[in-house]
Amino acid sequence: MKKTKPLYEGKAKILWETDSPEHMVQEFKNDATAFDGTKHEVVEGKGAFNNRISSHFYGLLRDEGIRTHFVKTLSDTEMLVERLEMLSVEVVVRNIAAGSLVKRLGISEGTKFDPPIVEFYLKDDELHDPILSEEHVRALDLATPDQVDAMKREALAVNIILGNFLKQRGIDLVDFKLEFGTKGGELILGDEISPDTCRFHDSKTGRIMDKDRFRQDLGGFMEAYGEILDRVSS
Ligand code: TMP
Ligand code: ASP
Repeated sequence: MKKTKPLYEGKAKILWETDSPEHMVQEFKNDATAFDGTKHEVVEGKGAFNNRISSHFYGLLRDEGIRTHFVKTLSDTEMLVERLEMLSVEVVVRNIAAGSLVKRLGISEGTKFDPPIVEFYLKDDELHDPILSEEHVRALDLATPDQVDAMKREALAVNIILGNFLKQRGIDLVDFKLEFGTKGGELILGDEISPDTCRFHDSKTGRIMDKDRFRQDLGGFMEAYGEILDRVSS
């Protein structure tokens, strides 16, 4: 399959059309962005880490029966994916309080949630990705009630599969973000699952091993991504 023209360029990825109408090439860029793109750096090697880590997670999820857009890894920075109509919502699952939740609700960082919290956000940088209730998702026609239920169910299933897999490798899955799309009426998991879109903490030391190292200028940003790749491939 050959990539033909770029259809969509986001902050961290480019989606290319291919000579197959059902497939796209998802290319991971070296750009690191945060705070709706206001903080930006190009970091050598980041695209390759995220492509490899995402490929690994999608392979694991496929083996566990989760329907994803992932077809195969094509190169260091590219994967072949099924072409989806993306929904404009981000689905976040939280096991441990961090990030925007701590700021918004004043909950202490590190508070554990059992059962985990599932949230919806509007995918819109200009509006700063506002949080949505399920009623908002319906009122804005972003997804049907059945799709809302299916996204929650799938997100919680992904949480169990990834959480257990990572736990065995000494990593706590703090929270993560998923994006879904449809193809022929079927809801399918798309986008990426990487240290850009998840929070990973070392289970023993609590060390941050994700994009928070970049957001908070903690240093050792790519070293952490490299260690995540080593642990998930072991
Ligand atoms: P938050 O604490 O900033 O709301 O983020 C929760 C999780 O979702 C965290 O793992 C980062 C991820 N996330 C994204 O990948 N993209 C986004 O645009 C946002 C807001 C969060
Ligand atoms: N809001 C997310 C972050 O803080 C994603 C982004 O803005 O690029 O990283």
